[in-house]
Amino acid sequence: MYYYPHLNRYLDYHKQSLQDIENFWDYQGRIIPWFKRWEKVLEKNHPFYRWYVGGYLNASYVCLDHHLDSIRRNKIAYYWENELGQTESVSYLELYNRVNAFANFLKNLGVKKDDVVLIYMPMVIDSIVAMLAVARLGAIHSVVFSGFSKNAIIDRIEDSKAKYIITATHTYRRGKRIDLFPVVKDIDLPYIEKIIVLDRDGNFKEEGKFVKWNKDLEFVYVTPEIRESNDPLFVLYTSGTTGKPKGILHSTGGYLVYVASTLAWAFNVNDDSIWWCTADIGWITGHSYVVYSPLALGLTSFIYEGAPDYPNPEKWWSLIEKYKITEFYTSPTALRMFMKYGEDHIRKYDLSSLRMLGSVGEPINPEVWTWYYENVGNKKCPIIDTWWQTETGGFILAPFMGIIPLRPGYASLPLPGIEVDIVDEKGNSLPANTKGFIVIKKPWPGMMLGILNDEEKYKQTYWSKFENMYYPGDYAIKDENDYIQLLGRADEVIKIAGHRIGTFEVESAILESELAAEAAVIGVPDELRGEIAVAFVTLKEGIQSNEEIKQKILMKVREVLGPVVVFSNIFFVEKLPKTRSGKIMRRLLKSILTEKEIGDISTLEEEASVEEVRKAYEELKKTLA
Ligand code: WTA
Repeated sequence: MYYYPHLNRYLDYHKQSLQDIENFWDYQGRIIPWFKRWEKVLEKNHPFYRWYVGGYLNASYVCLDHHLDSIRRNKIAYYWENELGQTESVSYLELYNRVNAFANFLKNLGVKKDDVVLIYMPMVIDSIVAMLAVARLGAIHSVVFSGFSKNAIIDRIEDSKAKYIITATHTYRRGKRIDLFPVVKDIDLPYIEKIIVLDRDGNFKEEGKFVKWNKDLEFVYVTPEIRESNDPLFVLYTSGTTGKPKGILHSTGGYLVYVASTLAWAFNVNDDSIWWCTADIGWITGHSYVVYSPLALGLTSFIYEGAPDYPNPEKWWSLIEKYKITEFYTSPTALRMFMKYGEDHIRKYDLSSLRMLGSVGEPINPEVWTWYYENVGNKKCPIIDTWWQTETGGFILAPFMGIIPLRPGYASLPLPGIEVDIVDEKGNSLPANTKGFIVIKKPWPGMMLGILNDEEKYKQTYWSKFENMYYPGDYAIKDENDYIQLLGRADEVIKIAGHRIGTFEVESAILESELAAEAAVIGVPDELRGEIAVAFVTLKEGIQSNEEIKQKILMKVREVLGPVVVFSNIFFVEKLPKTRSGKIMRRLLKSILTEKEIGDISTLEEEASVEEVRKAYEELKKTLA
């Protein structure tokens, strides 16, 4: 490789950071304000790691109060706009006032330390107010993406025992009103004490446990509850390989240090930044990089409530021009969609304010990377491809400040303090250009505390595959310069438009239709969304496969999981290919659909089932042709 001074300096710095990670993170802990400094930077009780032990802080103080006696007092914290062209902005002081007022309101309703509060809200400033107000009271928020169904909400309440729900009457998407309150209205679980509703059209009526969130709440100062660094800040559910989503529990201190550090490192954001992360607050990207890190760093952010290409594909570019966005962070799915429309929609706008462009959620194909670099960034903005997960809290891999050489399609190198490797099945390091599993070899402050109510699953999912290494469940490969490229999930998780969905969850939803006897779901490549779902279904005795049955099954999945699951097709078969021990061989189904070598089928119980799947697939190809 050529001599790249920045790369060598970065590699030196990175190496140094790993020599003594405790010392490194001890220093880095100062990036946020603490009420009391920690006593111990790291406490290990493998596989549980506790950071900044004995340190006290409060997340809403870190994000708000802390900025009030500085130049940031009257700085804009958020600009907001929606599809109707309505706008709103809040300064740090105004946000502080609103959070205090709402925290006081929640307090009067009985919300207290360690209560779980479920938030089911659209992309509006009030949602951020809600998260911070909950944090101010030392309660734990559980944000549920506003596209999820009632059943998904019920599952999460049953697991977390949430006592309160904060929601809004509705949101808008693609010009249509989408009701939110009616989704939660009939949830009748004994733990629910109050449902607090943001009344966006003035028609909401208070009644019983339904309480109206009054927009003109009076300012009352609420003392931020003192939290120990490892008291949970939030729980966020995410799909795994088993049926029900796991409640990923994040800390307060380590999490905030980590998200603030990584945003600064990856994007080199400054006090003059206008940051736009397009993620919804319902996902980890929204938690870490729409809410907590931009506020901890005192940035100005822009948020948008609406679809990317509505009413036309110009919308986002017009917003970048209007708000003079300096750093823009989005997903490959959104970029692939824009690519489809050509480039004219971009050329109309002045995007010269942009300095950095980011990507997250799924592998970014080199073509998309290059398109983004040339057309959006005008060849002057580094592409910051960030690889991480709900469980890691913040970025793990990203090209540090865009100063190291970039390679399209590569999330590049680990951030400071992070040690990763690519290993084989046995956990041995692999040489360059060999596909393997990515692992994280040292603890980091953003790592989850665990899975809510399920210590065993935490140990088994992340720490049992390899000894002493965190297993994220992704395939990866590195080049001669240790640059890492991600190659997708190694487990039964699919990423549809960047949204994480367990195949098992979809299969369970299909079975709930009571029409299916068995179901196997796999992800197949999709040009737009990265991956989409394909289901193989055997029907119950006496049920004939036809279009109506297919529609009923699709409806059921939508009802159970919401519209995030997109299907390419549902195939009806007589038998599913299974191993002798009765496990469905999804790998084999996938090979057939992606027209790859089938590989070893010696454990297959019945060869006939393979033929059947193949036949179903050939039939389909014919009907499509
Ligand atoms: C995938 C989203 C390739 C990966 C932040 C990971 C990525 C899963 C990238 C976590 C990327 C995320 N390149 N793949 N830059 N970022 N992934 O929990 O498979 O919704 O394990 O967190 O998304 O998804 P999650």
